[in-house]
Amino acid sequence: MIFAAILAGGIGSRMGGTDTPKQFLDLGDKPVIIHTIEKFAINSKIDKIIVLTPQNFINHTNHLIEEYIGENEDIVVIEGGETRNDTLINSISYIDENFGIDDDSIIVTHDSVRPFVTHRIIEDNIEAAKRYGACDTVVPATDTIVESINGRTIESIPVRDYYYQGQTPQSFNIKKLFNLINSLTEEESNILTDACKIFALKDEDVYLVDGEVTNIKITYPYDLKLANTILEDQHD
Ligand code: CTP
Repeated sequence: MIFAAILAGGIGSRMGGTDTPKQFLDLGDKPVIIHTIEKFAINSKIDKIIVLTPQNFINHTNHLIEEYIGENEDIVVIEGGETRNDTLINSISYIDENFGIDDDSIIVTHDSVRPFVTHRIIEDNIEAAKRYGACDTVVPATDTIVESINGRTIESIPVRDYYYQGQTPQSFNIKKLFNLINSLTEEESNILTDACKIFALKDEDVYLVDGEVTNIKITYPYDLKLANTILEDQHD
């Protein structure tokens, strides 16, 4: 089976100024999270979409889905976790409890606050996860990357050609991810905040899927303004 996990368990503290997490704010005529879910709902290869939100937003999310997408038994809303990684682990536990974990199933994990993910990116993720077991969506770094350990002076300036900026989706063979997560020591689990990092630490290949510069993450208020501009541009 092919699962999508929409990670919406955060509270959006960097957005500031509102009690409503950024994934529930309006972008154009509907909430950010609806734009994101729709991108997965129209992909016929995806069997089940698991949306993970804070506990007190589960009902609200179900109502939004009913209002904007309609009754859809392939979409389920469950509780996220304390950290983004905990939210991801909740999605794997849900799959394990409700469907079991076979050798071939894959999970496409995506930030709820990246509403401009494209059909092509999702398709490429599905293909790469099937073929290689793990993939990350990236764009080449455009700014020069400067390393500083003390925050005051430059340690090094790495060759930019070797650096990429990570986006989402990140997609995995579920069994492989499940086994890797279960093999982590407590110390490793505390540092490994990113699922691709778990693969990298265990010397497992993670393939690169080309992202898009428009596949932005809404983090700060300015990003929401930018998102509105991208949306208008797409409608022109
Ligand atoms: N996320 C999640 N569960 C968490 C924390 C984050 O599912 N416990 C999700 C967010 O909802 C978001 C994505 O991970 O869709 C990217 O994280 P980020 O932009 O850091 O979101 P927040 O944690 O909400 O933002 P902030 O760090 O500003 O509080």
